[in-house]
Amino acid sequence: MRILGIETSCDECAAAVVEDGRHILSNVVMTQIPLHERYQGVVPEIASRAHIEWILGAVRRALAEAQLDIDDIDGVAATAKPGLIGSLAVGLSFAKAFAWARGLPFKGINHMLAHLYAPQLEETIEYPFLGLLVSGGHTIICRADDFDSIAVLGTTIDDAAGEAFDKVAKYYGFGYPGGLVIDQLAERGDENAFKFPLPSLHKGEHRYDVSYSGLKTAVIHHLHSYLQPGASISPENIAASFRKTAIDTLLSRLYRAVRDTGIRTIVAGGGVAANAYLRRELAGKKDLRVFFPPLSLCGDNGAMVAGIAWHYFCRGEADGWDLAPSSRVMDFKWRQNHP
Ligand code: KG4
Ligand code: ZN
Repeated sequence: MRILGIETSCDECAAAVVEDGRHILSNVVMTQIPLHERYQGVVPEIASRAHIEWILGAVRRALAEAQLDIDDIDGVAATAKPGLIGSLAVGLSFAKAFAWARGLPFKGINHMLAHLYAPQLEETIEYPFLGLLVSGGHTIICRADDFDSIAVLGTTIDDAAGEAFDKVAKYYGFGYPGGLVIDQLAERGDENAFKFPLPSLHKGEHRYDVSYSGLKTAVIHHLHSYLQPGASISPENIAASFRKTAIDTLLSRLYRAVRDTGIRTIVAGGGVAANAYLRRELAGKKDLRVFFPPLSLCGDNGAMVAGIAWHYFCRGEADGWDLAPSSRVMDFKWRQNHP
């Protein structure tokens, strides 16, 4: 079964064709970053307009790169939530129209479940596992029992992980999004140069939650000192120390969840899953089975949407034409399994 997957939840206009949930036949990602860069963040109105202009081209390219004709597609899926509502509406409406016109089944996909599915485009992963979903908009530590069943253990109480990287990058004067630039700068720095405060672990239902506002303020304070005349602080060292603290915060909650649940398989997803320090630290844990998406599938893409949709179609599950986009993650079980 060849599925066309469309992703327009934020600033990537993406379309892909995936066969049987696994074989990526094409994966087109048209990024809008140049359109938003000068505003230091995604402007929702600009994003939805660009999706309207680009979506047909992205789908045409996905079919052409897969060397397929429109008749070769057996099902259509698009991200339905969470995301920017106007951007989601474009991809979702396009997918519904495509499926309706061709008489094909259609499925709306949860973006966070799709990110968690991304490593499964390459490898078979047994459930249950612990998921680390880290992107520009979300930070979720969860237990996954199936491709469509996750229970959220912890989240962020303020900024998302990627958002913290982006805000620090903005203070450096780097463009948007700045996570990768900070990561690259950090590779040249000493991560132990500064001891930024590691947010303390909470108890009870918040025991897996993270917070980034204190860390962000501390880093910005150091960067401010660096900008003073005669300062000898190295920006690489600040970046490396920030990166270490930001990722160690996530890892401390994740390891706590490993201890509490006894689950030793970890699956990471989302843009921050590309982080070099995160990948190195987890790869070094010999007592855990760790799965990362390849770098090309960490950010938003249509392949993860088409891949996960196959599992729904195999179960005979499709959505009606009345499925509406939603900006929020609503349908997860929240704060399950905490001791
Ligand atoms: O999943 P994604 O492409 O879009 C969302 O759904 O948000 O994630 C984008 C986020 C941005 O905040 C970006 O700065 C961050 O992922 N990011 C990184 C790295 N590459 C991308 N953060 C840290 N290290 C990286 N190497
Ligand atoms: Zn994403």
